[in-house]
Amino acid sequence: MTKVSWFGCARSGCRGPLAMPRGAIADGTARCRACGAMFPVLAGVPILVPAPAHWMAAHRDAILATLVEHDAATPRAVAVVDAFADAARDAEPARFGDDWVADEDAAFALALPPGERALDVVERLVGPRPGVVLELGCGDGGVAARLAARTRRLVVADLSLRAVLRARRRAAGAAAVVLDADAPCLAPASFDTIVAANLVDVIDRPDELIAAAAAALRPGGALVLSTPQPGLGAPDDDPAVLVAMLGRAGLDVDEVVEAAPWPRVHGPRYAQLYACWVGVARKRARRRARAAR
Ligand SMILES: C[S@@+](CC[C@H](N)C(=O)[O-])C[C@H]1O[C@@H](n2cnc3c(N)ncnc32)[C@H](O)[C@@H]1O
Ligand SMILES: [Zn+2]
Repeated sequence: MTKVSWFGCARSGCRGPLAMPRGAIADGTARCRACGAMFPVLAGVPILVPAPAHWMAAHRDAILATLVEHDAATPRAVAVVDAFADAARDAEPARFGDDWVADEDAAFALALPPGERALDVVERLVGPRPGVVLELGCGDGGVAARLAARTRRLVVADLSLRAVLRARRRAAGAAAVVLDADAPCLAPASFDTIVAANLVDVIDRPDELIAAAAAALRPGGALVLSTPQPGLGAPDDDPAVLVAMLGRAGLDVDEVVEAAPWPRVHGPRYAQLYACWVGVARKRARRRARAAR
């Protein structure tokens, strides 16, 4: 079950502490103790997005289909979906922006040297004892499945409910949360390791995500990133952009692997091969952070 103390209220500017209903509930409502905002909980997954009614109304069909796919469409879950969706009836219907392929490691990936693919490097940089781990933008759970055996505390997060339920199924024992990486609601000093594989280049405000991740790490904690666009939009795609962003957030880059292949097989006639920057950056211990100011 997801510990809500790892997260704060997702309403813009709040970040107050959250309360889950008593007992081991799978479907219901979490509430912010500071502002009173309510957030849906479906199949044990808190939906911590800034506008949960709008999110629910926009994705209603995708949510119900996903709950059915995961045998989780209980009458209570459907009532929670309806109650939130009815509060924002004017939202345009949308599918989840799912952006992963069924098996990121399949097919022509086998022709690449084992251990060198981007997700292999992510796995190596996470290290053998990563403590409490949050994976942001977990997609289909390829990374989570690799990390599950090394930690008893793994939380998978994505804007897509389908993603987190699939990742949770692959990484047995993981907790799951839906959140928007462009409005991250992570509680301070909650995690030892945060992983974001191929996420920072698809969101609007990577600098805010990195700052929020740095605050959510315990001192000495590690942020492991991979991205095919370390320049984050800079014309020459210069990795210095990402490294500078990490530095501003109080994170020192420890190790980098350039051009790690990230194969994505979309179908028998369509595959992509990206070259990723993969790196681990550590949060400065408090005394060093002060001296660096
Ligand atoms: C390219 S996929 C990477 C998936 C996985 N980490 C991997 O490397 O195989 C990007 C993931 O980020 C998620 N995503 C996109 N925008 C997001 C946002 N604003 N907040 C949270 N997740 C988001 C997508 O749903 C998708 O699962
Ligand atoms: Zn609040």
